[in-house]
Amino acid sequence: MKLYGNAASPFARKALIIAHELGLKLEVVKTIPAGNEEYRRINPLGKIPALVLDDGSVLIDSPVICEYLNQYGGGKFFPGMSIWRSESGRWKALSLQALADGIMDSAVARVQESRLSPEKQNEAAIAKHLKSIAAGLDALERVHFAEVPTIGEISAACALGYIDFRLPQLEWRASRPKLAGWFAKFSGYESMKATVPANP
Ligand code: BEZ
Repeated sequence: MKLYGNAASPFARKALIIAHELGLKLEVVKTIPAGNEEYRRINPLGKIPALVLDDGSVLIDSPVICEYLNQYGGGKFFPGMSIWRSESGRWKALSLQALADGIMDSAVARVQESRLSPEKQNEAAIAKHLKSIAAGLDALERVHFAEVPTIGEISAACALGYIDFRLPQLEWRASRPKLAGWFAKFSGYESMKATVPANP
């Protein structure tokens, strides 16, 4: 299996963490400048990550890729459907993943704005991204994280890792002590240490 991604992408990191935890071998292909037409033959949207299976079929979007890897590797990061397990069940895990992915979307968009020349930066868009990041982090501060990590916890950790990497000036820990404590502990997993974000 081939994963198209890069070392900065928090979305690719989710897949790498699952692969690491489940001992799956992935050939990692470092993409590929934005808008690369050749890459659009793999993912028409031009986004990373994309997973190419051994039969040549392609999966896109990190929730889909992560669920595939989880099932392929016999993992338990996507809990089954159960109305009895509201705390650790599938809907809580998926909803937490969606919250964390949304924080990542806003953080990546904020970073992309900062790469534009000052006259092209859109102040209103930046304010909107920062508001979503702050409100999303406040929501994470209120989450009761599962003891046995699900895709929700993995996604939350990738969102926080990306903010530390690209937006440290946000100093998110100052007003979110519970989240800071949880992330410090979660960062001790070998799979987290092996996938710390880096410049591509
Ligand atoms: C980054 O350089 O911050 C980045 C690169 C690819 C995907 C997401 C973020």
